[in-house]
Amino acid sequence: MTMKEHLNKTVQFLKERGFGTPEIGIILGTGLGKLADAITIEVEVSYNHIPYFPTATVEFHQGKFLFGELSGKKVVVMQGRFHIYEGYSMQDVTYPVRIMEQLGIKQLLVSNAAGAINLNFKKGELMLIEDHINLQGDSPLAFKGVSQLGERFVDMSAPYDKKMSETLISIAKEKNITLHQGVYVSVVGPQLETRAEYRMLKIMGADAVGMSTVPEVIVANHLKLPVIAVSVLTDECDPNNLAPVNIKEIMAMANKAEPKLVTLFKNLIATF
Ligand code: HPA
Repeated sequence: MTMKEHLNKTVQFLKERGFGTPEIGIILGTGLGKLADAITIEVEVSYNHIPYFPTATVEFHQGKFLFGELSGKKVVVMQGRFHIYEGYSMQDVTYPVRIMEQLGIKQLLVSNAAGAINLNFKKGELMLIEDHINLQGDSPLAFKGVSQLGERFVDMSAPYDKKMSETLISIAKEKNITLHQGVYVSVVGPQLETRAEYRMLKIMGADAVGMSTVPEVIVANHLKLPVIAVSVLTDECDPNNLAPVNIKEIMAMANKAEPKLVTLFKNLIATF
């Protein structure tokens, strides 16, 4: 079966389960599942019950697809996402983005946990991604059937939606939330970076580093779906003063900063 046929079957399943027509899609990153508490949930389905979905494995994610209402708008939410480091392909990782688009979303909001390469940025703060560098060594568009789903040579001159970004920046100002802007670089992981790698990433022009988001944003662009992404900065990547990584601390920092992300996304959606 082609990807298109898989997509149709998955969408049909979700419709039968009560997924209506969402206006907005949201992807919640590692340690950032609590936005779901603000949603009036109408239906929820575990990823491993959805046909043709990659199966959820990582314990950090609750791995659910939610349909409900937030700020008066119908939303579909990925509580937990798929990562390349779990062994999934780029096509697997981005499959749910294609599903959300087929369900009818007109905008996509993405979040992630990331390390701060720019040392003017502190852990616990947020960064709006204004551009990215793909260091995952692959593309979610590098497969035979891609041209059945959209054009192959996708423009990436402005991958993040300007209007939504500007609105988010003004909401952050109004709410007194520090929202940096910068370049996100995606790596495969799951190992963290060496000191030499952090130096390299900085020289390349990255402000934050993480293991997700870029594939989903590429596919959103493939689908001409306006997208924005916010990183929650969970650690400071200072190569000259690098403490051993503590994944518990990273999760704790994501949890701590999460209410700010919830405020931003809730208020942004209210403007749509
Ligand atoms: N590197 C890569 N991914 C991350 C980091 C990091 O320092 N922090 C959170 N996710």
